[in-house]
Amino acid sequence: MRYLPIEKLKDRMILGQDIFDGEGRMLLAGNEELNPDHIRNLKKMGFHGVYIKDDFSKDIELNQLMKPKIRSRALNMVHSLFTGTEEDEAAREQRLMELVVDVVEEVLSDGDIMYNMMDLKAYDDYTFYHSVNVAVLSAVIGVRYGMEEPELRILTMAALLHDIGKKFLEDDILNAKRPLREEERHIMLQHPKLGYEFLMKHYDFTPEVATAVLEHHECYNGEGYPMRKSGLEISIFARIIKLADVFDAMTSKRPYRDMLPPSDAIEYIMAMCGSEFDPKLVEVFLKWVAVYPVGCEVVLSDERRAVVTKNFPNFVLRPVVKLLETGEIINLNQDRNARNITIVRLVV
Ligand SMILES: [Fe+2]
Repeated sequence: MRYLPIEKLKDRMILGQDIFDGEGRMLLAGNEELNPDHIRNLKKMGFHGVYIKDDFSKDIELNQLMKPKIRSRALNMVHSLFTGTEEDEAAREQRLMELVVDVVEEVLSDGDIMYNMMDLKAYDDYTFYHSVNVAVLSAVIGVRYGMEEPELRILTMAALLHDIGKKFLEDDILNAKRPLREEERHIMLQHPKLGYEFLMKHYDFTPEVATAVLEHHECYNGEGYPMRKSGLEISIFARIIKLADVFDAMTSKRPYRDMLPPSDAIEYIMAMCGSEFDPKLVEVFLKWVAVYPVGCEVVLSDERRAVVTKNFPNFVLRPVVKLLETGEIINLNQDRNARNITIVRLVV
């Protein structure tokens, strides 16, 4: 399987994995042959790219972390949380807890838990895809930070719900294609508090979940909001979610800017280590989140193009790649004669 930006998709290519809309309904099934209508619709919905299967990439395996069935359930759950009525909260609480147990179990069942793929999301339903992805990425960081299952469940629940306060904000503020006016910005900054109050009022989760939601925009150096907490005053769950939230937001297309490649988002995270983010967590993040996800095309320093086939934790800048032109495999981490080759760019 490999990742292709939407503009490179061609008629009759074979889709590599199921694609869901923001409500968790299947749009296209993996193995389906793409036709011009499919490609037009994917473009219209704002997908940036998808995974496809072809001869070149048949030996490239993708580590999905979350089976399509659970991803679809998670999207559906988040969608109903954001759009549903208050009467249903009690029924949702049970379903949410079951979902989180399954997500954590799924992530833990993976042999080599690493965040190593491009997330597929449609532009229009950003909040739903983003919530689910922040949950998965937070869980990976939590596992690698050394958390046990009960803590991972609190973390995953809080991550899934981190932006729930946005459900009380006006659409034209949430999706503004322009810089926000001062008073609008002020309203936007209320969402952690609104989320906290909503969870405390309607849900019986451990209070750590609501606290993490309240603190997910606090910064390690005390310059975040709403309470300007700093360092270890901020809950560990919120510190992890902050990292996952920024990474996923930067690698997504937003109304006011295009998506950034993971490599650029990771550079930002390194630059903000110790100011926005907890340095201990940044260290974990840099080991276990791929700069060049498996299946993505990269440009090498000798101008050859290749597809990433495997990543090594701790050495995320030097994966194994397969040259597009010749099919030759180069292990940038181990091949002696590849020592002076570097990756200069990710093609997304
Ligand atoms: Fe937020």
